[in-house]
Amino acid sequence: MRKVTIIGAGNVGSSVALYLAEHKIADIYLVDVVAGLPEGKALDAEEAAPIRRYDVELRGSTDFSCMVESDVVVITAGIARRPGMSRDDLLNTNAKIIKSVSEKVAAYAPNSIIIMVTNPLDVMAYLALKTTGFALKKVVGMAGILDSIRFRSFVAQKFGVSVIDTTAMVLGGHGDSMVPLPRYSTVAGIPITELMSKDDIDKIIERTRKGGAEIVGYLKTGSAYYAPAAAVAKMVECIVRDKRRILPCSAYLKGEYGIEGLFVGVPVMLGKNGVEKIVELELIPEEREALHTSASAVRTVIEKLEDLGII
Ligand code: APR
Repeated sequence: MRKVTIIGAGNVGSSVALYLAEHKIADIYLVDVVAGLPEGKALDAEEAAPIRRYDVELRGSTDFSCMVESDVVVITAGIARRPGMSRDDLLNTNAKIIKSVSEKVAAYAPNSIIIMVTNPLDVMAYLALKTTGFALKKVVGMAGILDSIRFRSFVAQKFGVSVIDTTAMVLGGHGDSMVPLPRYSTVAGIPITELMSKDDIDKIIERTRKGGAEIVGYLKTGSAYYAPAAAVAKMVECIVRDKRRILPCSAYLKGEYGIEGLFVGVPVMLGKNGVEKIVELELIPEEREALHTSASAVRTVIEKLEDLGII
């Protein structure tokens, strides 16, 4: 059985653990700094196993050394948004947490693949890469899948069709400047640009961009976790089972799409080595410009971290 460690046993982390267990994808270790939380969540999930019929190992600990020999480390440690906050407002607090967590991953699980979830995640993925010194393909951020499944849900609602018959592609940073691509989003294989008015598509794009804030607005004390966790579990499955699926993820670009030295959401092939390949879609000038604007927003936040002396 493969081993996955989830750092941060909060809402997202514990939901990831449950999805992975339900699909028997790996043995799961939950780690947190709050004593009792990872142990309690892991034990509770383990006790559901006789009915839910999973026989993976589920353990919780505050001792980071339990992540040794992990194939994948999912990082969800940090604080989540509250109403009125942008993902970038989390920067100072989460950067310090991610730096210290990354040092521990480098020490205990140097051969693992990191999936970054903590926001602002394109920047946190960059920080983890710089702190661990891992190979570029071994650090990947979760965002595009989440943004795409939100987009798909809204398209399915609009047409009254099953979400299963929809596809979507969302590129860019995981923020208000993300770039949904209607030309590459379909219902039963037909691009939505042939099925919907521009006005309706624009409404869905806007709702997708604000999808995280919509949930924060309802929850008030935290941010979304079921859909983010489902997206993470999909990524873990692709890596652990070497699925080589093409999914939008935040990956380090070395000139692809004309972007250099940043994590930005693009379609990647995910497999046992992490980011096996970056897929370059043909973009029309308007889409390319939107992607570059989104990348600049990510770069600005990285510069803030540099000013703070964290990178
Ligand atoms: N090491 C390990 N765990 C930590 C650390 C640390 N240094 N610092 C904080 N944590 C833990 C907290 O104790 C908490 O249990 O991270 C957990 C975060 O859980 P929640 O507050 O429930 O937040 P969650 O909704 O899971 O979101 C986590 O993911 O989607 C992003 O924006 C979101 O950045 C946020 C992150």
